[in-house]
Amino acid sequence: MRSKLFVPGSRPELFVKALASEADAISIDLEDSVADRRKDEARAHVAEFLRSSEVLASNKIVIVRCNAPTTAQFEPDLRAVAQPALDMLNLPKQERSDDVCHAASVLEQVEADNGIAEPIGILATIESPAGMRRAHEIASAHPRVTGLQLGLSDLFDAFNIDRQDCGNVHVAMFAVRMAAAEAGVLAVDGACADFGDDRKFREEAAMARRLGFCGKSCIHPSQVALANEIFMPSDEEIAAATRVVEASRRAASSGVGAFTVDGKMIDRPAIRRAEQIVAAAGTLR
Ligand code: COA
Ligand code: MG
Repeated sequence: MRSKLFVPGSRPELFVKALASEADAISIDLEDSVADRRKDEARAHVAEFLRSSEVLASNKIVIVRCNAPTTAQFEPDLRAVAQPALDMLNLPKQERSDDVCHAASVLEQVEADNGIAEPIGILATIESPAGMRRAHEIASAHPRVTGLQLGLSDLFDAFNIDRQDCGNVHVAMFAVRMAAAEAGVLAVDGACADFGDDRKFREEAAMARRLGFCGKSCIHPSQVALANEIFMPSDEEIAAATRVVEASRRAASSGVGAFTVDGKMIDRPAIRRAEQIVAAAGTLR
C-alpha cells in the first residue's frame, strides 16, 4: 500500500474519482473531515458506495476511517460500513490496547450480524502522546490489527511541535515504525495537509520509506503519483534483492549461513529484507 487516498465521506461525488485514481488504497473518512451535522448523511453515502458495483469490481484496498470508538457515532459507523467490500477499518485516536480490543469485539459482532465471512482488518492511528507511548501495546492488542498509521497533524499541532523540523518528524516516525515492527504489522505514514507543497510531501515520504514504512496517506490526487514513485522499489533495488534471494537459496542448499553478494556480507536479516523487496515488487507491478 504505497498510497492511500483520503476522501471525505460527505463528498460522494469524489468517491468514484478516488477509485479511478492510481492510489493503491482508497480511504473514505467519516471522522475529522466530516462536519458533525453531516455525520449521518456521510455514513449513508459510504454504506451505499460500498454496495456499488464499482467498488465490488475494483482491485483497490478499501478502507474507511470511522469516528473514534469513544464517540456515539462509532457503532452506527461500523454497522453501516462492515460490508464485504471493506478491507480495513481505520480507527482514529488510539491510545490503549483495551480500546482496540473493545473496537475489535464490536467489529466481530457487527460482522456476524451482517453476515461478513472475511474478517476486516484494523489500521490503528497513533496521533497523541499517550498513543505514542503505548504504540506497541496498541499494535499487538489484537490479531486484527494489520497496521499502525501515524497522524502527525493531531500529534504535532495540538502541542506546538514544528513539523518543518525534520528531527521532530523523524523521532515520531521511528517510534511508530519500531512499535509496528515489534508487533509484525505494517507502518503507514499520515497525510500532509499542504497539498501545494510537493517538496514537503516528498521529504516526509522519503524519510518514511527509509524507515521501512510501506506507504503514505494522501489527501489530494496530486500526491498519489509522488507516493507511488517514492515507495516503489527501484529496478536496481529489485535486481540486487533478486540476486540476494537467489544466492540465499544456493547457500541454504549447501548449508551456508553467511555469504557474499555484490561485495557485501549477506546473512539472515539481509535475506529477509531482500525477500520483502522482491515480494513488494511482485505485488506492485
Ligand atoms: N479524492 C478524489 N478526487 C479529489 C480529491 C480526493 N480526495 N480531492 C480533490 N479531488 C479532485 C477534485 O474533484 C478535482 O477534480 P476535477 O478536476 O474533475 O474538478 C481535482 O481533484 C482537483 O481538486 P482541487 O480543486 O485541487 O481540490 P478541492 O479544492 O476540490 O479539494 C480538498 C481540496 C483538500 C478539500 C480535497 O482534496 C479533500 O477533501 N481531500 C481529502 C480530505 C480528507 O479526507 N481529510 C481527512 C484525512 S486527513
Ligand atoms: Mg485527525
